[in-house]
Amino acid sequence: MSQITKRSHLTVHINGETLNVSDKDAFLPLAQFLRNSLSKVGTKVVCAEGDCGACSVVASHYRNGAWTPLRTINSCIAPVFLFDLACIVTVEGLKDSEGLSEVQNKMREFHGGQCGFCTPGMVCSMAQLAEDCSAAKTEVTEKKARNYLTGNLCRCTGYEPILAAATHLELAKWKTMKERYLTAELTSQFKTLQTDGIEIVFENKKLTLPTDLASAVSLRQASPTSRIVAGATDIGVLVNKAKTSLQEILVLNKVSELHKIENTSAGVFIGAQVSLTDVEEFVRTSHPELKRLLHIFASPQIKNQGTLLGNVLNGSPIGDSIPALMALDAEIQFASKNGTRKVALKNYYKGYKVFDKTDDEIAVGILIPTLKGEYLNRFFKVSLRKDLDISAVTFAAVLKVQDGTLSEARIAMGGVGPCVIRLPQVEQHLVGKAFNENTFADAGVLAASLITPISDLRASREYRQLVTENLFKKCFHELSVENSVAEAVCP
Ligand SMILES: Cc1cc2nc3c(=O)[nH]c(=O)nc-3n(C[C@H](O)[C@H](O)[C@H](O)COP(=O)(O)OP(=O)(O)OC[C@H]3O[C@@H](n4cnc5c(N)ncnc54)[C@H](O)[C@@H]3O)c2cc1C
Ligand code: FES
Ligand code: FES
Repeated sequence: MSQITKRSHLTVHINGETLNVSDKDAFLPLAQFLRNSLSKVGTKVVCAEGDCGACSVVASHYRNGAWTPLRTINSCIAPVFLFDLACIVTVEGLKDSEGLSEVQNKMREFHGGQCGFCTPGMVCSMAQLAEDCSAAKTEVTEKKARNYLTGNLCRCTGYEPILAAATHLELAKWKTMKERYLTAELTSQFKTLQTDGIEIVFENKKLTLPTDLASAVSLRQASPTSRIVAGATDIGVLVNKAKTSLQEILVLNKVSELHKIENTSAGVFIGAQVSLTDVEEFVRTSHPELKRLLHIFASPQIKNQGTLLGNVLNGSPIGDSIPALMALDAEIQFASKNGTRKVALKNYYKGYKVFDKTDDEIAVGILIPTLKGEYLNRFFKVSLRKDLDISAVTFAAVLKVQDGTLSEARIAMGGVGPCVIRLPQVEQHLVGKAFNENTFADAGVLAASLITPISDLRASREYRQLVTENLFKKCFHELSVENSVAEAVCP
């Protein structure tokens, strides 16, 4: 960072006001900063772990000379230091001098707010719904409303009046947040600040935000024990639950190289700072099955803030994206002072949270090869409910079938041992066999005998073994249905 202008504060725009934030405030969760430091108490904190959506606010980042889309995030787990050159709209910022916004009016008209705790978060999610539908010039349907509200829990009377409010939104009356807040004046103000690196020291805490990869690598080498924070949807929960505290923090969201997402001749390259939402949209045609899996990953708020690489690097045995990426033969790319290094994901996990990674390495991105020809793929997540739940077991299969015979098989599973694993013995068993139910039933029995699941809150060991057998059969049945096979073959 030596050649780069350094600021010792963050610059954040909240509800139309630009603030310089430093010292203690820079390290607080955003919700706490809004409520305690700015007295914007409309934003509520209920679960403090990203689960309920009460703390939802809308945010856009000024990055690489442009604004990212305005999207909801959970402010209870997102530290303020992730929001340099961001525009944040809280529930207080939705009304204007003429009165309440269209979403607030409809929530009032349809009696959508009951306890008052969840309502501000619901309203913010609905504001994003109105914003997106206005931009796309599309109607608000109940399906869309349900999707946008997936991350907002109502614990009292249910969703009927809330959905009624959403589906009766009159978009002509919606004054877009983009026009109201992402003004030319703010844009030119932030443009002059975008190349600033940031360093903030407060008591025993130190925060650094470099603006290019070379500086990030040098900083990492100088402080290999600093904590890299991407979206903080894993780290923020640990901090709030006092399971970790952040002293030296390295934030890479100002490094433009890490926001790259592109199709290459070898596959889709996804930079380390790309959000799960952007990945879900980008892989729609190249990897439709991955897109389907990401649709049931967490909630919009978590996917807007969290990154795909964060999921991979956090390395939970039940990280939802990992089996799919492993079966797709994805490869992580690291950078350090020694240059760059590629690691096949199937070799990255060595045990529970033990990785093939040195302390000075920074993940740059992940390459996901594109499937061609007769490849079929199925990725499953088994959880107690469909949305916003932690998996008990995850399953991924990438298969090649030629003349009714399996000629290639890549199988990966999560929730069945200390880390996500490939199952080479099962893969060998499948290759050369007929593509039929017996083959998959036998493979399931073999897989169940090889895995080492534990019993925990989510499922017993026996359940995980049984579900493993059943997932192989489900995989066969889904792929063998004619239409399903046609859908599953990637272009
Ligand atoms: C309510 C809720 C629901 C969730 N639902 C799901 C779910 O359905 N499925 C699921 O799998 N997960 C889920 N998660 C977990 C989490 O959202 C994901 O794991 C997410 O992808 C983490 O990304 P992040 O950017 O927030 O990571 P962070 O929390 O910022 O970081 C995660 C880890 O990656 C490391 N890291 C990040 N970037 C780099 C880099 N460039 N180089 C080196 N190390 C790096 C960090 O140091 C840290 O160890 C959920 C979390 C919450 C709070
Ligand atoms: S308070 Fe529940 S998600 Fe933030
Ligand atoms: S509106 Fe708060 S619990 Fe339903």
